[in-house]
Amino acid sequence: MTSEPVATNRSILARLKDETRPEHDAIEQVLGLMDETLMLATYRRRLEQFHGFYRPVEERLQVLGGWGKHGIDLGARSKVLLLEADLRVLGTEAVENLPVCWELPDLTDVVDGFGCLYVLEGSTLGSQFISRHVQKILGVTPEIGGRYFHGYGERTGEMWREFGAALTAFAVERETQDRIVENAIATFRRLRGWFQRGHVS
Ligand code: HEM
Repeated sequence: MTSEPVATNRSILARLKDETRPEHDAIEQVLGLMDETLMLATYRRRLEQFHGFYRPVEERLQVLGGWGKHGIDLGARSKVLLLEADLRVLGTEAVENLPVCWELPDLTDVVDGFGCLYVLEGSTLGSQFISRHVQKILGVTPEIGGRYFHGYGERTGEMWREFGAALTAFAVERETQDRIVENAIATFRRLRGWFQRGHVS
């Protein structure tokens, strides 16, 4: 009889990458941002939806507090201001009145928070590809509506390594790791649900 592989010795980053892959692939499909036929209206709508999810999530992460002692500067990783800047350039009126999502992943403590942050921070890696694509297809540059996907730009690798180091130092216990993976999966699912419900201004 074969037994399930024991995940205990695998790093938290390897576990997250493997165990959230189906969720990542599913959300990628729903977004359609790499389509050759992507239209500017769809692009803007996706930004509005990202905003509707990140705004309450970032607020809740901030409320949890204590990030500094875990090596995370939450303010420096905020995506909401980038999204708002893009939306203003692209002509969305009254950004502050855009609908926000309330079906969020549980964010009761920093353990949950790390799972959620993995999803938000990891997305900056794929964003580099999306940034190049929308520049080519739509002419969207960081100055003209593309700040969110440009993200940390050439500092992306460095920011990801810093986050990975903080997460690895934090997620030592098996139980902590399990909860982080669980929350990362929940974050992907909640975000996908929000995109699929398609709230728009
Ligand atoms: C069209 C949509 C998307 C595309 C094309 C895409 C593409 C990619 C690519 C190519 C990578 C690997 C980058 C690398 O290793 O350098 C990546 C990583 C990642 N993406 Fe996406 N992505 C998309 C949407 C998203 C969304 C919406 C999220 C979540 C908000 C997300 C979260 C992540 C995470 C967490 C990783 C890190 C995986 C790991 O190494 O642990 N992605 N993405």
